[in-house]
Amino acid sequence: MVSCFKRIDNRLTTKDNRFMDKTLIGLPRSRRGKIVDLVLQYRAQLIIASVCMIVVAVANGAMAFLVKPVIDDIFVAKDRDMLMLIPALAVLVFLLKGAGTFGSEYLMNFIGERIIRYFREALYDRITDLPLAFIHKEKTGALMSRITNDVNIVKGMVSTAVVNIFRDFFSVIAFLFVIFYRDWQLALGAFIVLPLAFYPILIFGRRVRRFSTGTQETMAELNSFLHETFTGSKIIKIFNLQDFEKDRFKEKARHLFDLEMKKVIAKALSSPVMEFLGGLGIAFIIWFGGMRVINGTSTPGVFFSFLTAVMMLYDPVKKISKLNNTIQEGVAAASRIFDVLEEDQTIEEAEDPKTLSGRALSVTFENVGFRYGPEEAPALKNINLTAAPGEVVALVGMSGGGKTSLVNLIPRLYDVTDGRVTVGGIDVRDLSIRSLRDHISIVTQEPILFNETVRDNIRYGRMDATDREIEAAAKAAYAHEFITGFPRGYDTLIGELGSRLSGGEKQRICIARALIKDAPVLILDEATSALDSQAEQVVQKALENLMKGRTTFVIAHRLSTIDHASKIVLLKNGTIVEQGTREQLMACEGEFHKLVVLQMTSGSKNDNGTVLSDEPARTVAGRDQDGRNKHT
Ligand SMILES: Nc1ncnc2c1ncn2[C@@H]1O[C@H](COP(=O)(O)OP(=O)(O)O)[C@@H](O)[C@H]1O
Ligand SMILES: [Mg+2]
Repeated sequence: MVSCFKRIDNRLTTKDNRFMDKTLIGLPRSRRGKIVDLVLQYRAQLIIASVCMIVVAVANGAMAFLVKPVIDDIFVAKDRDMLMLIPALAVLVFLLKGAGTFGSEYLMNFIGERIIRYFREALYDRITDLPLAFIHKEKTGALMSRITNDVNIVKGMVSTAVVNIFRDFFSVIAFLFVIFYRDWQLALGAFIVLPLAFYPILIFGRRVRRFSTGTQETMAELNSFLHETFTGSKIIKIFNLQDFEKDRFKEKARHLFDLEMKKVIAKALSSPVMEFLGGLGIAFIIWFGGMRVINGTSTPGVFFSFLTAVMMLYDPVKKISKLNNTIQEGVAAASRIFDVLEEDQTIEEAEDPKTLSGRALSVTFENVGFRYGPEEAPALKNINLTAAPGEVVALVGMSGGGKTSLVNLIPRLYDVTDGRVTVGGIDVRDLSIRSLRDHISIVTQEPILFNETVRDNIRYGRMDATDREIEAAAKAAYAHEFITGFPRGYDTLIGELGSRLSGGEKQRICIARALIKDAPVLILDEATSALDSQAEQVVQKALENLMKGRTTFVIAHRLSTIDHASKIVLLKNGTIVEQGTREQLMACEGEFHKLVVLQMTSGSKNDNGTVLSDEPARTVAGRDQDGRNKHT
């Protein structure tokens, strides 16, 4: 029996939609279980909220119940005691109902908001920890929409829907009690009509869920489209793409409109259909109940108490039918959230991780092969390369040769597919990821700064750095001078500076950040490629300070940048075609020699030396150094 359940459970946890549709509320059991576990953390609140809901339900039932004494005792029998008692009871009932409503609303929303907060934090944690490969695969806008949009929809499900479902459920029971207590024969007759109402509810719920998934996905797509076109607005203007982008946007907006309208139709139809079916029931009750009063088998009080309960019953039943829609939307959103939370693509920590020590660290590549995905062509093949402690290794070659892919393997931004990479003689996969990354610094082509103060941006290199250390690093990075020229010096927010910061200045702040980190292994991936030659000279000096005494991998397209390299490695199509000192490579007149000569004669020489690869051109063609879509 148990193993049978397990098997079912396994099937349900697959992301296969066919199975998801078959489960009771549309979420696989494991995911539903997780939500239930979360809710159950708030047992005390749940219990109090349930009591409040029962109070509301009993008060609701009491209202219908009191209709009989109002009619039979006050209006028909003209009982004066009842004339005093019943209004007092009514006040009490309404008071209880109000208190119960407040209590249950407050508590259930509290639980809902807590769960939403949990999902937000879990999503952010997960997305931040997921490897680059995942983040590059998903669109930024879509990921943002998980944390902002989807989480809110789930909240709609948890706090609004759950609170109403229980309250309405209890109310339905209270009304049913009144209905059967007052006239069970009439009740039995009326309930022949009810089952007819269930079928349409199921149909509409299913349709709404389908359209809802569609609109959410289109919404996420729209988000990333907006993000792309707004950040790329300069290119759009210069290439006169406004009309093209406007048309693309109109197409998306129209698609969204169509989906929304389908949803609107399904939603708008569900109420009238329910109402009409309810109308049939009421007509029957008036006919059958009226007959019993005329025959004398029932009293007007019983009839009206009954009718009141049925009418009041209609409201929670209608709400429950609408709740189904909210829940279906919530389930669709929750599925998207869980898809991210359960994404199993990870860079895994070793079972018994080792830590790095010392400052003299060698880096080796042993028969390394790497591909970005099972279906992709290998980006690196059979790489054997050693960087002794403190050695500067230059990687050169045409773009797409695999230089960035190669250095990304050192801090485990990606894991090798074959062979191994070692740092300090230890396979990087056996090291604690934290310790490994603590020992590596990177400066990339695109300077990445966050909207914090200049000081804090440098401090990202090492959180416990003192202000004096930060200034020393800025000085060594040739950044101190321009930073002190800012309105508030080191306390200026990067965002305040806007486009005032030039590429070279940003890069020098990044170098100061790398200096503060003081890691023994350094990766410079086209760190000066985006700069003009004047800016490059200063940044180059800053980099020289940074490289001192560190095991360095430098990727550069200008010869001057690799002057300090004791070894030059030429990569082509993912393999090393030549490696040696500059003199050796020039002497053997192979690929490196050809590259130098080719670049010199093609006139792409500048005052800093020879261009060794066509990186900047490639950036325009589509991907930056991390292989991410440049357009975003
Ligand atoms: N994130 C990625 N996903 C798939 N393929 C990629 C990714 N990044 C780079 N590649 C591919 O891997 C190869 C090597 O790229 P890269 O290491 O960026 O070269 P380089 O830095 O020498 O220009 C190229 O064919 C490139 O298209
Ligand atoms: Mg590159």
